[in-house]
Parts: sequence; structure tokens; C-alpha cells
Amino acid sequence: MKHCSAVYSEMYGKENIHMKTAVIYWSGTGNTEKMAESVCAGMKEAGADIIAACDAIAFGCPAMGAEVLKESEFEPAFSSFESLLAGKKTGLFGSYGWGDGAWMRDWQDRVISDGAELIADGVICMNEPDDAALAECRDLGAKLAA
Ligand SMILES: Cc1cc2nc3c(=O)[nH]c(=O)nc-3n(C[C@H](O)[C@H](O)[C@H](O)COP(=O)(O)O)c2cc1C
Repeated sequence: MKHCSAVYSEMYGKENIHMKTAVIYWSGTGNTEKMAESVCAGMKEAGADIIAACDAIAFGCPAMGAEVLKESEFEPAFSSFESLLAGKKTGLFGSYGWGDGAWMRDWQDRVISDGAELIADGVICMNEPDDAALAECRDLGAKLAA
């Protein structure tokens, strides 16, 4: 069994947008796998439509790799949305482990150069969020919804 598009489940499975998608399939020689990839591509296009329809969006991803977004899953999805962010109220959040938040600074620079309206500094916390970090996240949500 294989699956794809889990990133979209994660990205859209929270709070306001109740949209969970998955493609579960088995393929021996790759033919059905090719079909599954097209089903996933259709889901991505639908995701892009959702972003275009939103007034405000929060994106969350931890520091991964070497101070980057999760390369195999989140990065390709996020980069496919970037052309839709111009003028959009945008918030960023994510946890990190041992760095100094460089991934978030780079991510902020990136959405600003995409033309997004970054409504606050990205909310970061080391490892598990404590009450203060969760309060910052609530503030971020409130600013996005204002
Ligand atoms: C493969 C991998 C790479 C990571 N790279 C970084 C990094 O470059 N900088 C950093 O501060 N933390 C890094 N971390 C730590 C994660 O950002 C941290 O554990 C975070 O809390 C995970 O968040 P999550 O529970 O939402 O996945 C990495 C963790 C893993 C597993």
C-alpha cells in the first residue's frame, strides 16, 4: 500500500477548512501509480483554489533538514501556493529543535518577497509549545481573522 497527498490532509485538516484527502493505492509496475499521481495533482489544484478563496492563511511547518521546510512534503506544496499569496494576509508558525530560528527568518523573507502581507513575526517555539507559545498562536489566529 502506498499513499500520497498526506501533506494536504495535514494542511487542510485543521480547524476552519475541514478537508481531508488521501489516495491509497497499490501498484506493481507503476501504471496505477501514475494514475494515483494524477489524482493527487487534481487534489493539489483544488487546494490552490481554496487558497485563492481565502482572505487569510496560516502556514505551519517545523525546522527540518538544515533549517529548511520539510523538503519532501511541505516544501513542494508550499512552493506551488506561493504565486497565490500576493496581497494575502499570511501568518507563519512552527517548532524547532536546536537551531536559532533561521528557517523561520528565511520563510518570512520568502513570503514577503511573494507579496504576502505578513501580519506578524512567525511564531516559533523550541520543541513542544508551552502555554506562552500557544497563546502567541492564538494571537496570530486572532490577527488573521481580524
Ligand atoms: C530530520 C529532522 C531535521 C531537523 N532539522 C532541524 C533544524 O535544521 N533546525 C532545528 O532547529 N530543528 C530541527 N529539527 C527539530 C525539529 O524542528 C523539532 O523536533 C520540531 O519540534 C518538530 O516539530 P513537529 O513535532 O511539528 O514535527 C529537525 C528534526 C528532524 C527530525
